[in-house]
Amino acid sequence: MQSVGKIMKVFVTRRIPPEGMQILSSAAGVCEASVWDSDEPVSRAELLKGVQGAAGILCLLSDKIDAEVLNAAGPNLKVISTLSVGFDHLALDEIKKRGIRVGYTPDVLTDATAELTVALLLATARRLPEGVEEAKNGGWSTWKPLWLCGYGLSGSTVGIVGLGRIGMAIAQRLMPFGVKRLLYTGRNAKPHAAEVNGEFVPMDTLLSECDFIVISCSLTPETQGLCDKAFFTKMKNTAVFVNTSRGAVVNQEDLYEALKNGQIAAAGLDVTTPEPLPTNHPLFTLNNCVVLPHIGSATYSTRGIMSSLAARNLLAGLQGTDMPSELKV
Ligand code: NDP
Ligand code: DGY
Repeated sequence: MQSVGKIMKVFVTRRIPPEGMQILSSAAGVCEASVWDSDEPVSRAELLKGVQGAAGILCLLSDKIDAEVLNAAGPNLKVISTLSVGFDHLALDEIKKRGIRVGYTPDVLTDATAELTVALLLATARRLPEGVEEAKNGGWSTWKPLWLCGYGLSGSTVGIVGLGRIGMAIAQRLMPFGVKRLLYTGRNAKPHAAEVNGEFVPMDTLLSECDFIVISCSLTPETQGLCDKAFFTKMKNTAVFVNTSRGAVVNQEDLYEALKNGQIAAAGLDVTTPEPLPTNHPLFTLNNCVVLPHIGSATYSTRGIMSSLAARNLLAGLQGTDMPSELKV
């Protein structure tokens, strides 16, 4: 047991699944956790107050950790552990300047997110929300040859933008549906693409040849606004667009126009700008747009594992030992 003087303060910015909290509680000799004890996000003011003097911050993707937060925390801050694989909410340049270590949660959510992406793609392409609504509201009068027809994966060409961990897991799940060709684009070709017969192609080829386009890249300055008017204009009118990466990769005004004008067939979004998307947003008026509330990794077991991994990353950062998943900044 270490002396009380060495117990480090950590700030946890939200209630997290118990798996993580148990790990932090069992390290009572190392750290004392102060938790924003709510399912709702901490306000900026409470975040700035809560991090004061902290040696560690366990945060969520909705917390912007920038210079102001780092300054509020002060010189004791050793580690930031985010309960996410995405790290676009962290000002890495500022974090690096201060020599602070960063933990994140790759791999453990790959299967859950890929599974949800496939579900969203099928729901969008086969018009499931519309069908459910029609069955409930009396719109189902009889079996009609062309009613609620959509697009199938069998014999199709699928394009993945960003064949990373999740992109690859999506490709592996889609191929057994009878996909004919799997194209992908990114900064460079991936040796692992051979497992799914993936063809590395320029973006324009992917846009003009694919029946389904799935966005699974990380949000960076280069990918911000990547899916804009020019992008949608190059897609087939019959193509389905799916985004489970980050909302800011898409220009939503351009997407709305493309969906409304029939430039593309349909879109499925698990991520939007902002989150939550206001209920009066124009995208909600379109039948050919399916919006989910950022639930890619939302299985009980995945969230539990993310929580324990985030807590273990935090403790390792506090103690100066190897982290299970450290982001090299
Ligand atoms: P990876 O780092 O394994 O994959 C990211 C991919 O993005 C890489 O293949 C990379 O390709 C690609 N990429 C980066 N820059 C570009 C670019 N300019 N153009 C095209 N592709 C690019 O991360 P994960 O697969 O684990 O996660 C990906 C993202 O998914 C996360 O960053 C997060 O934002 C999101 N996510 C969303 C979830 C949800 O709930 N909806 C759940 C989990 C993650 P290359 O190597 O060629 O640069
Ligand atoms: C992430 O981890 O980046 C997701 O968006 C939530 O699991």
